[in-house]
Amino acid sequence: MSSFLELGVPADLSDVLASQGITDPTPIQAATLPDSLGGRDVLGRGRTGSGKTLAFLLPLVARLDASRSRRTPKRPRALILAPTRELVAQIDAALAPLAAVHGLRTRTVFGGVGQNPQVTAIRQGVDFVLACPGRLEDLIKQGHVDLGQVEVTVLDEADHMADLGFLPAVRRILEQTPRGGQRMLFSATLDSGVNVLVKRFLTNPATHEADSAQSPISTMDHHVLHVHRDHRVSVLVDLTSAPGRTVVFTRTKHGAKNLAKQLNSRGVPTVELHGNLAQNARTRNMEAFHSGKASTLVATDIAARGIHVDDVALVVHADPPAEHKAYLHRSGRTARAGAAGTVITLMTDQQVKDVRDLTRAAKISPTTTKISGPSHPVLAQLAPGERVLVAGGLKDDRPAEDRNQSRGGGGGGRRRSGGRGGQGSGRSQGESRSRQQGGRSRGGNRGSAAAPKSGGHSAASFSSNRRGR
Ligand SMILES: Nc1ncnc2c1ncn2[C@@H]1O[C@H](COP(=O)(O)OP(=O)(O)OP(=O)(O)O)[C@@H](O)[C@H]1O
Ligand SMILES: [Mg+2]
Repeated sequence: MSSFLELGVPADLSDVLASQGITDPTPIQAATLPDSLGGRDVLGRGRTGSGKTLAFLLPLVARLDASRSRRTPKRPRALILAPTRELVAQIDAALAPLAAVHGLRTRTVFGGVGQNPQVTAIRQGVDFVLACPGRLEDLIKQGHVDLGQVEVTVLDEADHMADLGFLPAVRRILEQTPRGGQRMLFSATLDSGVNVLVKRFLTNPATHEADSAQSPISTMDHHVLHVHRDHRVSVLVDLTSAPGRTVVFTRTKHGAKNLAKQLNSRGVPTVELHGNLAQNARTRNMEAFHSGKASTLVATDIAARGIHVDDVALVVHADPPAEHKAYLHRSGRTARAGAAGTVITLMTDQQVKDVRDLTRAAKISPTTTKISGPSHPVLAQLAPGERVLVAGGLKDDRPAEDRNQSRGGGGGGRRRSGGRGGQGSGRSQGESRSRQQGGRSRGGNRGSAAAPKSGGHSAASFSSNRRGR
């Protein structure tokens, strides 16, 4: 296997990776880096958790460092678009140590927080803008950002960015970047949905597929538990009270909020993540999950794409997702970077056909077990270890006045009206539908505290095959 240096990554950048324990390129990195570093347009498909973020960040940093252009007020030189705020923040955290090597400045741009710090930073001059399309368009319209000097653009989760909710804004944004610039599209499920963007905006792209989502992740176990509706919550309490971090997905925001409340009241320290929460609650909840204060995250599909939390041992589809791509992305929150993970779909009698169609489309063959309730022995097999319940679930240690706002844990999130409004006005349709969280911690996710009860595995090694729970 080639080293990063052999693939053409500058030594100072590969040194940064080495200091993080990253020495062996993943297949998607090995496949794309020679072309991306060479300046070609790239379409990159690599399965969830396979290091696509570094695959596009390394060539961006190398390119800007080598470029003769200068940082200019209001005119960023590189643009990264991603569908959710938390993903934008997470990419920025991964970029920070690489950008620092060359003194490059970065700025995130997304709704739900005040725009003034964003405007001020861009006015002073930044090299990278990392953005959700809605707020970026707002700033462009107000004359605060000019994309006329962008040399390289990346669309992360590109197939999702080509979905109806995002596509119009993404097109308008790309139209404003100079022709002839380098463009790259990445996703675990890069499909023909991106063709409209490829035809219009890419030139002779190099297409690379490595470990695509269709090839099974050998360290990921898929299970379906056929349950009676009445036993659903008890089964979830049993699974989530086992050691290790768990992400539980629901179909609706309301469902996420309710389930988080129920798990907390039954003694599982839980946070919620969905579009009805204010941004400060989203950030706080993700921090609690990253730090291990909360061992379970209940989320809508806004957490399905790109979000990385170390040592998530179990993903539970409490409601089966709407389609197979969502199944692959949700499931991909576990078994990342070579670690092992278990994926469980809860299926009621009414959902049997839907789940069968879903797993077929996702090309996975789960083991299905019909269970009569939380005492079934399969639960201890899938989520082994002693069950620990904490009276009241997640402790809310914020001052009383803050608690009256949206409460991340046991209380309900403050409901915000519709897709627009609030501080972060002007979100694109897609952004407001799929806004998501992400624990923002500079220095990235590596080495973040493991969940207290975790017998978790390290994300540091792609060869690791240890079971986390
Ligand atoms: N070469 C490498 N060796 C070891 N770990 C790596 C390597 N490259 C990236 N990682 C780590 O792997 C984890 C997952 O990477 P990343 O989030 O980029 O995956 P992804 O392919 O973008 O997944 P998704 O499709 O879910 O967005 C991160 O913690 C990252 O630091
Ligand atoms: Mg990613």
